[in-house]
Amino acid sequence: RFEASLRPRLLREYIGQLKARENLEVFIQAARSRQEALDHVLFYGPPGLGKTTLANIIAGEMGVSIKSTSGPVIEKPGDLAAILTNLESGDVLFIDEIHRLSPVVEEVLYPAMEDYQLDIIIGQGPSARTVKLDLPRFTLVGATTRAGLLSSPLRDRFGVISRLEFYSPAELAQIVTRSARILDIPTDPEGALEIARRSRGTPRIANRLLRRVRDFAEVRGAGVITREVADSALGRLEVDSLGLDHMDRLILLTIIDKFGGGPVGLETLAAAVGEEKDTIEDVIEPYLIQQGYLNRTPRGRKASLAAYRHLQRLPAAGDEPGG
Ligand code: ADE
Repeated sequence: RFEASLRPRLLREYIGQLKARENLEVFIQAARSRQEALDHVLFYGPPGLGKTTLANIIAGEMGVSIKSTSGPVIEKPGDLAAILTNLESGDVLFIDEIHRLSPVVEEVLYPAMEDYQLDIIIGQGPSARTVKLDLPRFTLVGATTRAGLLSSPLRDRFGVISRLEFYSPAELAQIVTRSARILDIPTDPEGALEIARRSRGTPRIANRLLRRVRDFAEVRGAGVITREVADSALGRLEVDSLGLDHMDRLILLTIIDKFGGGPVGLETLAAAVGEEKDTIEDVIEPYLIQQGYLNRTPRGRKASLAAYRHLQRLPAAGDEPGG
């Protein structure tokens, strides 16, 4: 994928996530100088913030290979055993969506993470016995949207737990500027900032919007991304002035227009907008909450006064926007 070339490959090329980055730098340097494998690392946070990128950077900085897989792909204990026994000393094993590992597969992972041992059961019934196999020292890098989705025994076996946060517009503007240079599309600082402001705090979205704005700049404009070109292209892409997309607005408008501003339960809301519960909770809501347009209350989701204002709705008698 061409996308891959926009990913930074070194920690010093990586923009944003200052806390995660500074800590990782220390842990990597310490492990390197002790000539040990890095401790297991868990990244959690909304999609598109750089979990996969950081896993690859860790391998690069440690000078080791990375093997990448994901929770749902590892169906049986034998699948995981095959992967583990193919690792070389110090390697990174990256498991995306690690919260989706089945319990029987998780059981295999515990001794592997803790003691670098694989417990294999041979045979069935009374003659079954376990054989312990030594594994090379390796670093498990896990990624998930919410740390709370992991079972606590699994979570407890990570030495480093790192929460990725939404990027500021200034950080995203730096990323857009870097990507525009790689894609060879002239971009004004104001054009980069306009894309950045409207990318939901997420580099993956910023890079996607940059490509689409580039299309408009090249076909309908003068081949330069200015603020005006960015604004007009983003309007056509239905990304509004605050960076909310069609589904963001549909969810907020549904809460306001159909449920009196809420509270409305997640299940009811999901059915009303025709979206998966998990997608709403893990992908869409976090940004709306962070930006103060939506609140989670014990009785369900509520639209905030800022959401009413942005969507040009007036609270009806009895509506109480907020938390
Ligand atoms: N491209 C995508 N995410 C990035 C980041 N955090 N830093 C630099 N370039 C990126």
